[in-house]
Amino acid sequence: MPQKYVIIGTKISKKLSFYGLVGLTSLCIFFLLFNQRYSNYVEHRLQPVISEVKLKPRSGKNEELFTVFSNINNLTYFEIQEVIDQQRRNIEIDMEEYQYPNGKFGINVSNMNELIMEKGGRPMRSIIISSWRSGSTFVGDVVNAHPANFYHYEPLLDFGIVQVRGAPLAQVAINNIYALFNCEYHKLNNYLNFGKTHPWVFNHNTHLWRQCTSHKKICWNPDFVTKFCRIFPFQSMKLVRLRLKIAEALLEDKSLGIRMVLLVRDPRGLMQSRKHRDWCPSSPDCSDPARVCADMISDYESAVRLKKKFPRHFKVIRYEDLSLDPFAHAKNLYEFYGLDFHENVKSFLDTHTKSDLGGVSSTFRNSKAAPFHWRTDLDHEEVEEIQSVCSTAMRLWGYSLALNETHQKDFNPITNYSL
Ligand SMILES: *[C@@H]1O[C@H](CO)[C@@H](O)[C@H](O)[C@H]1NC(C)=O
Ligand SMILES: *[C@@H]1O[C@H](CO)[C@@H](O)[C@H](O)[C@H]1NC(C)=O
Ligand SMILES: *[C@@H]1O[C@H](CO)[C@@H](O)[C@H](O)[C@H]1NC(C)=O
Repeated sequence: MPQKYVIIGTKISKKLSFYGLVGLTSLCIFFLLFNQRYSNYVEHRLQPVISEVKLKPRSGKNEELFTVFSNINNLTYFEIQEVIDQQRRNIEIDMEEYQYPNGKFGINVSNMNELIMEKGGRPMRSIIISSWRSGSTFVGDVVNAHPANFYHYEPLLDFGIVQVRGAPLAQVAINNIYALFNCEYHKLNNYLNFGKTHPWVFNHNTHLWRQCTSHKKICWNPDFVTKFCRIFPFQSMKLVRLRLKIAEALLEDKSLGIRMVLLVRDPRGLMQSRKHRDWCPSSPDCSDPARVCADMISDYESAVRLKKKFPRHFKVIRYEDLSLDPFAHAKNLYEFYGLDFHENVKSFLDTHTKSDLGGVSSTFRNSKAAPFHWRTDLDHEEVEEIQSVCSTAMRLWGYSLALNETHQKDFNPITNYSL
């Protein structure tokens, strides 16, 4: 009898150890896979936990700890923290030798914390208002050559090829611009979703895009972009779809501290350059010279008003003037924005204003020739057609009429204007 029990007992223990072995092996395999896959995150785990708690040391400690621990297995959360910490260090390095305005240019800022949103500061914010093919990509890149700048490139890209002149688009546009300047990406779902299939929403924002290329999963995550945006001391923005009378609201609001430039171009140069873009002809806001020049008149009227009302925060630049002397105009622009005319900016200008190397949307071009291509590229009938609906806009902005075919080829189209 006892023998039987022993036999059964052995059978049971054999079975047990078999299953035990299987279980142990599976467990080992599982841990191996887990470690291999996530080992790079494990080593970064401690750092973000520490930095997250250090940032807001007193307020709502329990809540923070709850956030940290409820996120302990959330890889997205740790990837975000890792990138933010790395970028914070990059910004500190970029800003080591920075010349703060310290009261110059009407700006009383003497250290970086005063400019950083996550530390309760307010970044220095600059805007370029322009329209398609007016050299705004070049000017936007000149401003973005400044260290530690967060570049809001074309915030209204998802509106399509339209001009924002009034209701109902104006309110949506202004709300989006506020959300961007305040780094509130949870309010910008359309913009982020559009960006997933139109990478140029972000790819002019150099620092953001560099992180996006190696961290694709978090690039369009609103938590990530919000946190990332809030660590930058400088923000710039360029817009080609917003007319000045709408943009005026941004200057009226002192809380943003914006400085705004209107960038203007000869309508004949605009129309010639737009003719070669396939996205333009089907939209009258882009291709109809009468509309384009009506916008230029409206911008002129707003500019006269803003120049008086906000002499320190509003300025006009003509693309042609800038192209003839990019260095002097860029220096001037930097002083207006209150930004340090940094070595990075000088070397950007040296490499981007001398020869005609790049493609159509490139700023690698001979800046002295680019604004005047239209004189040979358009025939005189085309020029007359534009001039017939643009003479008022041209007179206001200081562009002379081409009188005939031969005159068009060699006259100087720019003259003086005053606001
Ligand atoms: C993980 O963290 C990210 C970023 O904080 C958040 O958007 C996401 O909802 C979290 N996921 C889970 C499952 O908690
Ligand atoms: C600039 O800021 C400093 C410290 O915040 C203050 O003492 C000084 O009065 C300010 N100067 C001007 C001109 O506002
Ligand atoms: C073109 O216009 C210029 C300037 O008015 C004038 O001097 C010239 O004679 C004109 N040429 C022709 C071919 O009409």
